[in-house]
Amino acid sequence: MEPISVFDFEEVARERLATMVYDYYRSGAADEITLRRNREAFDSTRLYPRVLIDVESRSLTSTVLGQSCSMPILVAPTAFHGLAHPDAEAATAAAAGEAGTIMVLSSLSNTAVEDVVAASSGSVWFQLYVYKDRGVTAELVRRVEEAGCRALVLTVDAPVLGTRERDERNRFHLPAGLSVRNLASAGFDPLPETGGSGLASYFQSLLAADLSWKDVEWLRSLTSLPIVLKGIVRRDDARRAVDAGVHGLVVSNHGGRQLDSAPATLEALSGISEAVDERITVLMDGGVRRGTDVVKALARGASGVLVGRPVLWGLAADGRAGVAQVLSILRRELDHAMALCGCASVAEINGDLLHPG
Ligand code: FNR
Ligand code: LAC
Repeated sequence: MEPISVFDFEEVARERLATMVYDYYRSGAADEITLRRNREAFDSTRLYPRVLIDVESRSLTSTVLGQSCSMPILVAPTAFHGLAHPDAEAATAAAAGEAGTIMVLSSLSNTAVEDVVAASSGSVWFQLYVYKDRGVTAELVRRVEEAGCRALVLTVDAPVLGTRERDERNRFHLPAGLSVRNLASAGFDPLPETGGSGLASYFQSLLAADLSWKDVEWLRSLTSLPIVLKGIVRRDDARRAVDAGVHGLVVSNHGGRQLDSAPATLEALSGISEAVDERITVLMDGGVRRGTDVVKALARGASGVLVGRPVLWGLAADGRAGVAQVLSILRRELDHAMALCGCASVAEINGDLLHPG
């Protein structure tokens, strides 16, 4: 079967990956209510296309945090690409750069941040997990700034790791040869091998469960990079993010992997766009699998979306070429959906499309 959709790529990846890896990538927290709801929210949203509009020439070009992007679809930070392909994050970065879009690199990558930036012809942002050891965290921030990352994405929805029951049963760990590369020099590597999820133990022993708004202030004092908060689903938190002086936020529930029963991100998005009122950049992620999903998110006020698992499926299927294919499928589908919606540019996608007129 030649994969022609993101869903096809998941099938190919599922056949290729060891159970422990596929389960880690695919899983949501607990009963996976939120994981399912992310998709259900997209599926149950209608688009009302506008007709008789000249859409012969179309542009997907977008600006995110003042950076130009070939499309409003970014690569979400996901840990441990080495589990999917030996070229790991370097392959993902090369494909994202080639597609003209931004890759957000996870703190928990198997490839050093310097090597990821070197592999990319485009912009790389860095997703930050704050360690209990703020000294190590500050050193990491200094390092990613020096490496040439162009924004810092602080994940705020994971003071503790969500419970992924398959990872517990599979005793999730990193096979020999893979490490938590960016933290190796600090000695925060590898994942402990325990009776359950090695990642859960890693989080519990090393990551900051006391992460608070004070750390946001601290980070602002530490770096001149733009800061984006990832994992906001409440309007009051969004307003507070604006007050805290950050440059953007990602409406996210971590792909349904953290608090099970958190709302679908598409549901949370409208209220947050309204609360933020264009004062800072609003992005969203969670369940984006089709071009029409991107239109729905932009219609609800996002400036762009991020995709997590789709990129991992592409990477598992065929390394850099697989990621390139997944990004190109999403681009083609978005372009097609825009044409059918009567939108010649990304700026023309607005809330109007969600109403019967
Ligand atoms: C993630 N996500 C994530 N987020 C983050 O801030 N740091 C990280 O290291 C990771 N790691 C990670 C691993 C895996 C396997 C997955 C699936 C997800 C969450 C990610 O950035 C994003 O929020 C979701 O993946 C978006 O949902 P979709 O596109 O996967 O449905
Ligand atoms: C995850 C962490 C690493 O979702 O963010 O697995």
